Amino acid sequence: NWQMPDFIQHKVEEIRQTVGNSKVVCALSGGVDSTVAAVLTYKAIGDRLFCIFVDHGLLRKGESQEVEESFKKLSLPFKKVDASEYFLERLKGVENPEQKRKIIGHTFIEVFEREAKEFGAEYLLQGTLYPDVVESAGIEGAKVIKTHHNVGGLPERMNLKLLEPLRELFKDEVRKVGELLGVPENILKRHPFPGPGLAIRILGEVKKEDLEILREADYIFIEELKRWGLYDKVWQAFAVLLPVKSVGVMGDVRTYERVVGLRAVDSTDGMTADWSRLPYEFLDHVMRRIINEVKGINRVVYDISSKPPATIEWE
Ligand code: XMP
Repeated sequence: NWQMPDFIQHKVEEIRQTVGNSKVVCALSGGVDSTVAAVLTYKAIGDRLFCIFVDHGLLRKGESQEVEESFKKLSLPFKKVDASEYFLERLKGVENPEQKRKIIGHTFIEVFEREAKEFGAEYLLQGTLYPDVVESAGIEGAKVIKTHHNVGGLPERMNLKLLEPLRELFKDEVRKVGELLGVPENILKRHPFPGPGLAIRILGEVKKEDLEILREADYIFIEELKRWGLYDKVWQAFAVLLPVKSVGVMGDVRTYERVVGLRAVDSTDGMTADWSRLPYEFLDHVMRRIINEVKGINRVVYDISSKPPATIEWE
C-alpha cells in the first residue's frame, strides 16, 4: 500500500537505476495510464524517452488531434503515426472479437516496431495497471477473460525489456500520481478507453461507414454527459453499434436501420461494475439527439448489465 508522493520518488529512482544510460520507447495512447507512465519516466530520464502515438483509425471523434495537443503541452518527446488505413485493411471481413483484438495487437506491434527501431531503445515503457495484469492472466492462476492488447507479446519479439512502473497500481491511484505530476485534468478525468478502440464497440466486422456512425453517436452521448454534469460521476461511458437492424417510423415513413447501445458504468477498478442509474430525462434527451442526428440509427437501447456476469465492453 503506497503513499503516492513516496511512490513517485521511489519509482523515479528505480527507473533511473533500471534504465541506466539506455533509451526507452513508449506507445502513448492519450489515456491516463500511458500518459502518466510517460510523464513519470520523463521525470526520471528526460529525453532518453521517446514516445510514439499510433493512430489506428479506431479512435473517437476529434480524439487524435486532442491527444496530440495534450502531449505538446506536456512537452513529451513524441511522434504521431497515422496507420488507420493499414489497420482497417487488416480487419476486413473479421468478425470474431478475440481475432479482432489479436489482429489489432499484432498490427500495432508491427507499426510500432518499425517506428521504434531508429531510436535504438533497450526498454519498452507500458502503462500496464494491476487489473490488466490479472485479467490477461499475467498472474498465475488467473483465467484469460479478454486479451488486453497492451500486455504480453511485444518485448520478446522486439528484443526489448519491459518497463511497467504502474504495474502495482489501480486506476484511482494512477490518477493521484498524475495529479501530483501535473498532468492536466482533462487527461486525468478521461474515462478509460480500450487499446483496440472502437473496433470492439462495433460488434462484428469493422467497416469505415460504421466507424463514422458510432463516432457520431458516441460523441453525442459523451457531450451530453458533460453538459449535464454527469461525465465525472460515471466511471466509464460509451456507445456501441449493434449488428442488427430494427423497424422504426420517421414521419410517415417506415425505416429499417441499426441499433445503438449506450453503456455507462460505476466502478472503482473495472474488475467489477454496476450500470449507472442515469436520469430518465437525460437518457430520453440523448436518445432523441442520436436518432435525429445520426443517419442510419433508428433505435437506442440502454445496457443494464452488471459485471459480472457481463463485461464492461461488449466484445
Ligand atoms: P471489460 O470489458 O473486460 O473491460 O470488462 C474492463 C476495462 O478494461 C478496458 N479494456 C481494455 N483496455 N486494452 C485496454 O487497454 C484492451 O484490450 C481492453 N479491453 C477492455 C475496458 O474499456 C474497461 O475499462
